[in-house]
Amino acid sequence: MYYEDSLVEEIRSKNDIVDVIGSYVKLTKKGANHMGLCPFHGEKTPSFSVSQGKQMYHCFGCGVGGNVFTFLMEYENYTFMEAMRVLAERAGVELPQKEQSEEAKQTHELRNKLFEVNKLAAKYYYVLLRSDRGTGAMEYLKNRELTDETIQHFGLGYSDKFGGGLYKYLKKEGYGDDFLKLTGLVNIDEQKGGSDKFWNRVMFPIMDINSKVIAFGGRVMGDGMPKYLNSPETKLFDKSRNLYGLNFARTSRKSYFLLCEGYMDVIALHQAGFTNAVASLGTAFTGLHANLMSRYVKEVLLTYDSDEAGTKAALRAIPILKESGISVKVINMKPYKDPDEFIKALGAEEYQKRIDQASSSFFFEINVLEQQYDLQDPEQKTKFYNEIAGKLAGFPEEIERNNYMEAVDRIYHMGYENLRHLVNSIGSRKLSQQIAQETKEREKETGRKKGKPEEGIYQSQKMLLTWMAEETKTYDKIKNVISAGDFTEEPYKSVAIMVFEQYENEKMITPARIISRFESAEEQAKVAEIFSASVREELSEAEKNKAFSDTVLRIRRNSLECAGRKAIEENNVTEYQRIIQQIKDLQKLNVTLG
Ligand code: UTP
Ligand code: MN
Repeated sequence: MYYEDSLVEEIRSKNDIVDVIGSYVKLTKKGANHMGLCPFHGEKTPSFSVSQGKQMYHCFGCGVGGNVFTFLMEYENYTFMEAMRVLAERAGVELPQKEQSEEAKQTHELRNKLFEVNKLAAKYYYVLLRSDRGTGAMEYLKNRELTDETIQHFGLGYSDKFGGGLYKYLKKEGYGDDFLKLTGLVNIDEQKGGSDKFWNRVMFPIMDINSKVIAFGGRVMGDGMPKYLNSPETKLFDKSRNLYGLNFARTSRKSYFLLCEGYMDVIALHQAGFTNAVASLGTAFTGLHANLMSRYVKEVLLTYDSDEAGTKAALRAIPILKESGISVKVINMKPYKDPDEFIKALGAEEYQKRIDQASSSFFFEINVLEQQYDLQDPEQKTKFYNEIAGKLAGFPEEIERNNYMEAVDRIYHMGYENLRHLVNSIGSRKLSQQIAQETKEREKETGRKKGKPEEGIYQSQKMLLTWMAEETKTYDKIKNVISAGDFTEEPYKSVAIMVFEQYENEKMITPARIISRFESAEEQAKVAEIFSASVREELSEAEKNKAFSDTVLRIRRNSLECAGRKAIEENNVTEYQRIIQQIKDLQKLNVTLG
């Protein structure tokens, strides 16, 4: 799904870049430009320039730059589509809705209503905390050393001792039992009627990345069980996709996140100035959490509880984070249990030191391993070394692997050559297993997909699109032979349509702009890959020409053959004969690059 260029252009032109950036960065007019402190790198004298005339920004210090879309994508970590939506709303332009099914419409309405009711509930708890009935709860929060500002910032509240207040309030606001059942905020009993889910607890609203309340956690003020009660999953709240504090952390402008275990850890860290802290709540850390984080940062520092459970949770989270391309370090908070207690005891400065001293996840893992083996026992020692070597073999980058091998050797004195030998043999065993696995999968795949076009045709389509992006004259050479319709499968087809359009309108092709017309990271990556086919440099002119001609004719023939098969299916003999003739004519065609 992508928007028409004209619409993108309309939205862009209706959002003056100086206004938009001006709401994030203090700008001062200097000659033709507006200058400010660059939000993308730390600086004391302004080198960040915004041009009203060109509607673009550029930092002379760190080199970032772009238009109003780029800015929001970089600053807010929005996708292009999110930036479009925000800017369209800002300019009062309605974006075309995709044809919505009745079902989709209902889901949309239900979600909106759930947002509404969560907001009301948050207000209800908020007011109660500040009323006479909330004095005990307020005292509890103050005892935990939260400032008024922090309590306000996180929208904390209190659920009353008498467990029916919220239910009554929401009924009064006009919500029916059938709907309220879906909110997770109340229990509806056929006989006894409705009651609140949260009683006499300090309330923590859980927000999505746009700071909209989607659920709650409630803590007992004392030793009751359960310590924390959380909203059940609803149409708004999916535990494995939400991180507490992410709405704030995502604009913290730090290159890493602090990942902790609980509500109070996040809050204590933010209060101490570490506004890049987030937590996965009352649930194990998942790949979805990791993917979500990888949209914002490439590094995560784990600051889980120092006890055995925390260590175990950290060991589980490390590979999940790495899988998403995030590098991981682990913060040592001993002798304290969690960040909240650490900061209370030693303060923010000491915590910062622990951040600076955080060890790479590799050393954390082997430290834990070491405690499981008795290194005095030769057999156990061998097992331990094998485990380390297995982990070392997992580093895909040679330099990184070597650095870690050296470091391991320095600690355990295994002899660098021995270690290298061990790692290499494990590495090649792993590699051959991997190749066998991939071959098996490929065979399964091709077995299943018989009748689908062969892989080679995609390669050809990719080649031609890359060729067109790299050498614009290509277009004139092929325009009489090939059209975008000859690209038979998605996403090649969509990309080809855009490439042809751009060239016809502007006589040039900008892959980056085409990429930003796709929404998901996967699609964008796929499109980027399409534009990165290798046009082989080492070929001679004649060979290049032949490759080019083969590629073009192959794409056209494949498209004609598809059309031919369709004509046969439809029993359209004349059409079929026409296509056969076209295929024959292809042989007479002469397509060259020169
Ligand atoms: P902890 O037991 O480590 O609590 O649970 P904590 O964060 O240190 O809380 P305080 O300082 O005692 O107030 C960590 C997280 O696990 C979830 C909560 O999200 C909590 O913040 N949890 C814990 C629950 O969901 N339910 C529970 O009963 C306990
Ligand atoms: Mn705690």
